[in-house]
Amino acid sequence: MKFNKQYILLLCGLSLIGCTDDKFTDVVPFPEEADTDNPGTQEPVSSSRDEQYRPQIHYTPAANWINDPNGMFYLDGTWHLYYQYNPSGNDWGNMSWGHATSSDLIHWEEKPVAMVRNEWGDIFSGSAVVDKDNTAGFGANTVIAFYTASGERQQQCLAYSTDGGMTFNQYEGNPVIPNSDLPDFRDPKVFWHPESGKWIMCLALGWDCGIELWGSSNLKSWSKLSTFRSSSARSNIGQWECPDLIRLPYNGGEKWVLIVSNNPGGPAGGSGTEYFIGNFDGNEFTADEMDYPLWLDYGSDNYAGVTWSNAPDNRTVMIGWMNNWNYCGNVPCNPWRSAMTLPRELTLRDIDGSPRLCSSVVKEIDGIGGEWTDTDGICQGGVAYEIKLSLDPKESKTFTVGNAVGEYLEVEVNPSAGKIIAKRTSTTGATNFHGLFSIPTLASPYNTNADELELHLLIDNSSVEILSTDGAAAITCLVFPSVPYDRISGLENGISYRPLNTIW
Ligand code: FRU
Repeated sequence: MKFNKQYILLLCGLSLIGCTDDKFTDVVPFPEEADTDNPGTQEPVSSSRDEQYRPQIHYTPAANWINDPNGMFYLDGTWHLYYQYNPSGNDWGNMSWGHATSSDLIHWEEKPVAMVRNEWGDIFSGSAVVDKDNTAGFGANTVIAFYTASGERQQQCLAYSTDGGMTFNQYEGNPVIPNSDLPDFRDPKVFWHPESGKWIMCLALGWDCGIELWGSSNLKSWSKLSTFRSSSARSNIGQWECPDLIRLPYNGGEKWVLIVSNNPGGPAGGSGTEYFIGNFDGNEFTADEMDYPLWLDYGSDNYAGVTWSNAPDNRTVMIGWMNNWNYCGNVPCNPWRSAMTLPRELTLRDIDGSPRLCSSVVKEIDGIGGEWTDTDGICQGGVAYEIKLSLDPKESKTFTVGNAVGEYLEVEVNPSAGKIIAKRTSTTGATNFHGLFSIPTLASPYNTNADELELHLLIDNSSVEILSTDGAAAITCLVFPSVPYDRISGLENGISYRPLNTIW
């Protein structure tokens, strides 16, 4: 197959100098030897996945670069995860959809690459649905993926799979949504809206800070319904990417939540995931008056997260890319680069009369968890750990999570600010690979009015996720200690932990 020789280079420092687009400019040619005709037949590289910093409880590919999660769907007992993938190196480029599957959201098996660049361009982010009623005419239960083809322009394309998501055929009528003038127009997220009897697609306008909604009855012809914009100036300072529009139960009714990834307008600088709460009437999303921006996670490393389609039991499960465009190209990982967050269940909770989007690690984590044990600080017996703490939100406290060689992440509970603050400085391990990696204040509001602040810390070889039990407070951050963290200090009692086994 002929493919465009597009030249692409990730200019990671752009957000630092306040440049507009684009991380998507220039060099790294697509390798001649790549088999673009048959991506679904090439076995992934195998690896022991035991290198320094290699996550043991988070998804990583054996080798090479990943960013956003893409096209996730559940079918017949299998959770499918695709992702932005460079089949030929651990820098951004040659964007393709890598693929992994799981029966429990925790253990993943890497599959052959599902889609590589075609005549329309690179395969940027997107989503997939299971077409149960054959609305598109490719057959009942065909998996239909939408992605942004990034060539001369960003345009929306359809690919369909009749073998349960292993291989995809490109639709001959592509692009299904052409684009002749918008500089940023990407990351289609599609869902079925039963009340209006149509499919809805959300599309992000990048630096133009808007989300377009499109509608279709057959997944092939689409018409524009509306554009959502925020009246919050603080929400309009980055580029908007990777939208998702979901509905969640709330106070006996339901609310719609529009999730928008924002880079570099995130809460800790660089990449962050914000959300708007409101209503969707089948055409338009209207946000409730609230004090925006609201962030799903106040850490530095949870970006581009979207939810699974067709998840069982009405579950709303999200996974994010655990990195940040500010420094992702420099994190010291080889031969892979970047991991996904742990999958998280989303709920809406009423906090002092106001809804908050909460994310807790999926219950399937129990499958790799050992016994809970009380500890005075040292954790043993795992490759990773979950630590549970119960604190008084009205009392100032500082504690550290660290290792035997004296590296640590400091965490402060600050009642006057009502915040949990993690301090990712040079005490945490390697930080000097990029000037923006040290961040002394990763601050999440408690988001609770309870008398107790119960926190879970999920500690892997190169990350710490700090989540309150209901997921209303969240700080996800990468750390690169020379040996893994396995201890907590500064707290006298009320600490328990369980070892977590490797998922590999
Ligand atoms: C978000 C993003 C998307 C784009 C993809 C390219 O991280 O910039 O908007 O589709 O990455 O890899």
